[in-house]
Amino acid sequence: MTLTPERTERSSAELIRAEETALAHNYHPLPVVVARAEGVWVEDVEGRRYLDMLAGYSALNFGHRHPDLIAAAHRQLDEVTLTSRAFHNDRLAGFAEGLAALTGLEMTLPMNTGAEAVESAIKVARKWAYEVKGVAPDRATIVVADGNFHGRTTTIVSFSTDETARGGFGPFTPGFRIVPYNDLAALEAAIDETTAAVLIEPIQGEAGVLIPDDGYLTGVRDLTRRANCLFVADEIQSGLGRTGTTLAVDHESVVPDMLLLGKALGGGIVPVSAVVARRDVMSVLRPGEHGSTFGGNPLSAAVGSAVVDLLATGEYQRRAADLGTVLRDGLAALTGRGVVGFRARGLWAGVDVDPAVGTGREISERLLAEGILVKDTHGSTIRIAPPLTITREELEAALASLEKVLGR
Ligand SMILES: Cc1ncc(COP(=O)(O)O)c(C=O)c1O
Repeated sequence: MTLTPERTERSSAELIRAEETALAHNYHPLPVVVARAEGVWVEDVEGRRYLDMLAGYSALNFGHRHPDLIAAAHRQLDEVTLTSRAFHNDRLAGFAEGLAALTGLEMTLPMNTGAEAVESAIKVARKWAYEVKGVAPDRATIVVADGNFHGRTTTIVSFSTDETARGGFGPFTPGFRIVPYNDLAALEAAIDETTAAVLIEPIQGEAGVLIPDDGYLTGVRDLTRRANCLFVADEIQSGLGRTGTTLAVDHESVVPDMLLLGKALGGGIVPVSAVVARRDVMSVLRPGEHGSTFGGNPLSAAVGSAVVDLLATGEYQRRAADLGTVLRDGLAALTGRGVVGFRARGLWAGVDVDPAVGTGREISERLLAEGILVKDTHGSTIRIAPPLTITREELEAALASLEKVLGR
């Protein structure tokens, strides 16, 4: 990585203090101030280098500043960046066609953030329930799983089971039923004639990379088809190569009715999300009923198309699958030596650390001191999700650092 001259007079410590004064305290970041990044490496204000083993919660699947994505963004910056959907732009059709080819679905609703994609899918599912399924007005329900994470808007936290995410933010949006994750019998019992959709993460990321039993996704597909309701798969974190396949649902060869994409779709450059759906489902939306000033802008569409092109090569899915075995073997070797359990698929793992060794936060801080960036979740779990461009040597070095900080 080439070092650029100092851009700031302020040290990391000063910038952290300034952030604490000037920013809302809705995050508790690790004490590192990133100033530059390339590939799997980031560099802080003082020039210390860190291996990024979090990758922006999968928003950086292709690493920081992937040359193809940066080139696509630069090219587009020189042409046109924003039109609004009042007009057509010459990038959007190709982006949607690319997503259709990648996912096996037909129509795209472009948005910006993940939460917006989830909100949009809820609206489409409800409208489909009234117009196509014939649910009585305002009676549509959506079945979700406990431990879910779908974003932070008021409607989405209405069906969260995390009290920190909900507390103090009511009143909440009605119309959701919560069932245990990975429990087909409970799901079947919750579905009735009012059910518009079942909305689940094929792997629950924020919950600690919880992977359902084999057959669960096939079961959800069968149940929803039989009950005439939609299967909405939130692949905002699990999708786009992370698990060793393009989508996590590909592990069971299941095609949902609506697919939610975000994070890596913007290549780590711009926020880009999308609802991708069957034509008969998406067709319930008509002009004026939904929209976004920035959704589908030419810059986002150009970067999103470049992301689709990277995935079309299959290289990143292969890397995630191949290196996933290195990650899994490394974590298996640490089990009983500071690791009490882990769940991994592709280049994605939730690692439960022995509380006697330290909290997830403490382990993350120790790894930071070793030059490794990860983030804790739920007390004693750390999440590992490096860019899919990581090399075997870099991954092994990160696992060696984990072994060192666990001290067993
Ligand atoms: C599965 C899932 N859905 C939705 C979201 C929300 O995405 P955003 O933070 O872009 O709104 C996230 C973010 O972590 C996520 O993991």
